[in-house]
Amino acid sequence: MEPETARWLTSTEGQALMALAEASGPPRATGTQRELAIQMSLRSAGHPATRVAAVMSLLAARAKAVGKFGDTAGSLFVTQEGIEQATRPQLAARHTARFVAAGVQEVFDLGCGIGSDAATFARAGIKVVAVEADPVTATFAAANLRSWPSARVMTGTAQDVALPRGDAARHTGVWVDPGRRVRGVADVHGRARRVFSLDEISPSWAEVCAWAAQLPATGAKLSPAFPHAALPPGAEAQWASWHGEVLECVVWWGPLVEHLGRTAAVCRSDVPPGLVTEAHAAAGEAHSQAAVEAVAEVGPWLWEADKAVIRAGLTGALPGRELARGVGLSTGDSNTDLPWARRFAVLDVLPARAKVVRQWARARGVGALTLKKRGTSIEPDRFRADVGPVRGPSSATLVLTTIAGGQSAVAIAVDPTVGPQ
Ligand SMILES: C[S@@+](CC[C@H](N)C(=O)[O-])C[C@H]1O[C@@H](n2cnc3c(N)ncnc32)[C@H](O)[C@@H]1O
Repeated sequence: MEPETARWLTSTEGQALMALAEASGPPRATGTQRELAIQMSLRSAGHPATRVAAVMSLLAARAKAVGKFGDTAGSLFVTQEGIEQATRPQLAARHTARFVAAGVQEVFDLGCGIGSDAATFARAGIKVVAVEADPVTATFAAANLRSWPSARVMTGTAQDVALPRGDAARHTGVWVDPGRRVRGVADVHGRARRVFSLDEISPSWAEVCAWAAQLPATGAKLSPAFPHAALPPGAEAQWASWHGEVLECVVWWGPLVEHLGRTAAVCRSDVPPGLVTEAHAAAGEAHSQAAVEAVAEVGPWLWEADKAVIRAGLTGALPGRELARGVGLSTGDSNTDLPWARRFAVLDVLPARAKVVRQWARARGVGALTLKKRGTSIEPDRFRADVGPVRGPSSATLVLTTIAGGQSAVAIAVDPTVGPQ
């Protein structure tokens, strides 16, 4: 889409055509059929092809945005890439809360995308200067932020922004959510190629660190693959998951730090977030003995840590004894429940050999076998094929993992219905 078309789309005229498009699809038609009908009706009413294409692409992007933004998706200006990169509103609210708690009154959002984080800052009463290099995305961000007069969008590169210094910088913060895609370089699906290394993000990691040195109230949202060794001294890196999926690692500096070092926030819509810190992991490791060495040491309960806790390297906080350090599974006797780990009842511990599992399943009439794996090279699909067909009315869940420092592969049969779901 050309920037001029994006500007037209966000205008009253563009919005009128969007409303007409939404109303003109046959009510019961779905997907492609509906899109074609809308497109034909707009074209036959004489609207130019570029404008019809822009309307169609916004309709499609809004439909895609529903999963992340719910009902508000219908009024957002979004691109397909913009939605994929946008911060989930529930996590954006957590970012905002840190700035509010630190007394920050103005945030420079350097690479604001369609403005999900920026809108959350503005909604909390923080003044926002949102900067975006891509002109179409910047136009959409400006439209998404127009309800908040204290939010301003600048089209341009973050590097060209003169950040305040000295007294003028008091109560000012920086938020950076660097792009992790290379514009103009497509992957196999025709989408902008994703980058995984800190060297390739834009703005760069070096620039982010320089801004944090200038304005200590800085937060940077990075990939969950953020390397532990890259954490700057005095900062906090928080890995956050939403319903079990690790979405981000945010590095916080200065007054935005809540717990030094690595932390994990396990977030869901139905329960308050679970927080794990290095102090929790150290206390857990001090209490528990070394990792499990033998099958006989596996107790009646198995805990599986949320992936944010694993990414943060804080599995030492798990109750009982870890099966293998860092893998995210532990075992013990107490039925402790935590908001960041799932508890299973252990039914059996078998060697992870296909023949043994086949005999075990046949003896119990297990016809449906669910395989989970943690910290082992065993491929569940391959393992299932090696086990071969199993028949029977029962179902079973096996966790394929290792004990004894990785020397023994085990299949732990668990009851996933016991313990909090
Ligand atoms: C991950 S997205 C930001 C998403 C945003 N936090 C949100 O929640 O909607 C990163 C954005 O930074 C922009 N960008 C990348 N490099 C930039 C630079 N040097 N200056 C300004 N914007 C930049 C990209 O165009 C992209 O839209």
